[in-house]
Amino acid sequence: MMLMSAAPDFGSMNPLVESLKETGIVEVAQHGWDRQGLIPLWFGEGDLPTPSFITEAAADAMRRGETFYTDQRGILDLRKEIAAYMNRTFDIALDTDRVSLTTGGMSSLAMAMQMILAPGNEVLVVGPIWPNIYSTVEINGGVSTHVSLSLRDDDWHLDMDALFAAVTDKTKAIFVNSPGNPTGWMIEQEQQQQILDFARERGIWIIADEVYHQLVFDRDVAPSFLQIAEDDDRLFVINSFSKSWMMTGWRLGWLTHPAALGPTVAKLVQIVTSGVPQFLHRGAIAAMRDGDQVIADLRARCLKGRDIVFDRLDAWPRISSARPKAAFYAFFTVDGMDDSVDACKQIIDTCNVGLAPGSAFGPSGEGYLRLCYASAPERLTAAMDALEGMLGGPKA
Ligand SMILES: Cc1ncc(COP(=O)(O)O)c(C=O)c1O
Repeated sequence: MMLMSAAPDFGSMNPLVESLKETGIVEVAQHGWDRQGLIPLWFGEGDLPTPSFITEAAADAMRRGETFYTDQRGILDLRKEIAAYMNRTFDIALDTDRVSLTTGGMSSLAMAMQMILAPGNEVLVVGPIWPNIYSTVEINGGVSTHVSLSLRDDDWHLDMDALFAAVTDKTKAIFVNSPGNPTGWMIEQEQQQQILDFARERGIWIIADEVYHQLVFDRDVAPSFLQIAEDDDRLFVINSFSKSWMMTGWRLGWLTHPAALGPTVAKLVQIVTSGVPQFLHRGAIAAMRDGDQVIADLRARCLKGRDIVFDRLDAWPRISSARPKAAFYAFFTVDGMDDSVDACKQIIDTCNVGLAPGSAFGPSGEGYLRLCYASAPERLTAAMDALEGMLGGPKA
């Protein structure tokens, strides 16, 4: 028989770490993790592995012996490739000094916060948003404040007056994720310009999370703050190899920052990861150089997935949602549902489908569920068939 031992006492630990809460997505995933046949649509990743020309480039480099420490900000060949990619994608003129390779969008986010936050500084976050954003603010002693998008007329809207009214003298940064996770909201250039003007006037940073910039259905690419900003504006732009090149497990991203902060980024990389594995750089170079078709295919797959999911959601009386123009999520309310974690657990038990609870996405997320539609059409159809019994009925 196993004896339960008391939790070990480690004395006082970092209270900022202790106070971080596990997200509701993890709680739900733990509930359903080992269910036979479960269709998992809860995480932000698709069901396809990385294309082989990318994996081969990394494997070849590893076999060649590219297994050493590298430049903290990524080897120059890759930084040149990233700058070239950004310049042709957004029609801008970034220099390699302004880009640093990171261990995923997540570490770009973490470093951006580390560079600017002092205890008590506020970061004004446009939500609903991916939960790690709040945690990254809080672990750095910051305080996240919130302004909410609203869902009306079949789209998500940002009220600029509400945004600016929420800025206080403690606000250090405004955080905008567009195209957005979980909503699929996409900011237009006019609103970006208003935020930039306001931020300049008040000396505030903008952190723009643009990891879904290629996954757009009504144009080639989502507007970027980089298209309107000057080189030395207080702007960080977060990007990632994860989503568009199907490289979530590689942990690769990049951060665009003012050139003068390059050495600071190198210093931070040094003490956390000490850089990205050398051979992975070659995979990333292949993705940037030869990956345009991969992105086009993924976009077509997501568009199909979106329509499979929304054709069904739109027909179900209890559901309210907006068919997004970008990213790969459906974020919808269910009439009569007030505890989204509980609802997700019930959906696992009844339908064997894994969804993410809206409450994980900040103060305005409760009442919603998120479904990632970056999956095979048959899989999505099977999921919607399974969900219909529980979500497709009449309003109570
Ligand atoms: C809005 C947003 N930003 C950043 C990330 C981080 O991506 P990664 O760390 O895999 O590059 C994600 C991943 O889900 C995301 O949804």
